[in-house]
Amino acid sequence: MKIMAIVAGRRNGNSEILAKEALSAARAQGAECSLINLFDYKILPCTGCEGCTMSMGQGKQPVCVLKEKDDVDRIIRKMHQQDGIIVSVPTYDLMPSALYTMFTQRFIAYELAFLLKIGVVKKDPHLVAGVIANGGSCHDWQGLALETIGATMFTQSIRVVDQFMAIRNGLPGNVLVHPEQLERARKLGENMVKAVSTPPEARTWLGEPDMGLCPNCHSSLIARGEPHWNGVYYPYECPVCGAGGDLVKDETTGKIRFAVAPDGLDFDRNQNECRDKHLDEIVATRRHYLSHREEVMPAMARYKEMTFPGLD
Ligand SMILES: Cc1cc2nc3c(=O)[nH]c(=O)nc-3n(C[C@H](O)[C@H](O)[C@H](O)COP(=O)(O)O)c2cc1C
Repeated sequence: MKIMAIVAGRRNGNSEILAKEALSAARAQGAECSLINLFDYKILPCTGCEGCTMSMGQGKQPVCVLKEKDDVDRIIRKMHQQDGIIVSVPTYDLMPSALYTMFTQRFIAYELAFLLKIGVVKKDPHLVAGVIANGGSCHDWQGLALETIGATMFTQSIRVVDQFMAIRNGLPGNVLVHPEQLERARKLGENMVKAVSTPPEARTWLGEPDMGLCPNCHSSLIARGEPHWNGVYYPYECPVCGAGGDLVKDETTGKIRFAVAPDGLDFDRNQNECRDKHLDEIVATRRHYLSHREEVMPAMARYKEMTFPGLD
């Protein structure tokens, strides 16, 4: 069993300490563990070239234009040899640090649902993750942290089985005055071993049972729904996993809860086959645009010529 931690915080900072604590617990249960800190690697931002989605739309294997230019391909290849990934990321401005999101936004060229569809990958490796969001404040100042990390998981084809938020950790080492957080990190490490040891179809959520509002991905954020590109509509949706449903009053507790509609998981981004449908949307959008290309080209030329002063 192989478990790898990916840290996006300072070297030997709070996120790294929490990851090491989780890995120690996993190692004590027999897992072969490794750790990388993203600060030690060259990671370039996605150029937005759309080469990967263009290839996928044509049924071809995508190759990222940055593949030879930095360390991302090397890191992803190592990740694909794992059974579990522990992600430990500092919260910056309510959300995960840009270093982490910059890294994960490079995964479309490695999109498993698509690679499975065209037969480049034969078998779903069923990777699982444990997620740690670590910040200086409480939940009120980390409100997008776990949810944004959750939103990075579907493109990586990783199922989150446990997550927690480490709070009130400022300077490096601050987490060491919170033994309960170190303990929770150890529990996350153990949960990773438990998940990996369970057959994929029998794996379940191992975090706090009542965490968040979404019963599917445990996100705390639920948003009012709007019609999808193909007319599908739910009154409320989970912005992270895409579950659709409504807000209802629970008869037993009297509290408001998010009830997933009978077909509300049809667009669950965590399912490879559901995510696959999103490629249909990308292709339909592209076709619509291409059918207007003759009008668009002269207009684009006007914008190219339109200039404004930048920095002095
Ligand atoms: C640019 C920046 C923005 C930050 N914004 C937040 C924030 O919005 N919420 C929060 O709880 N902590 C915030 N912090 C504090 C860090 O999350 C905290 O120091 C964390 O422990 C750093 O992790 P590390 O020790 O692994 O690097 C911020 C820190 C920096 C440098």
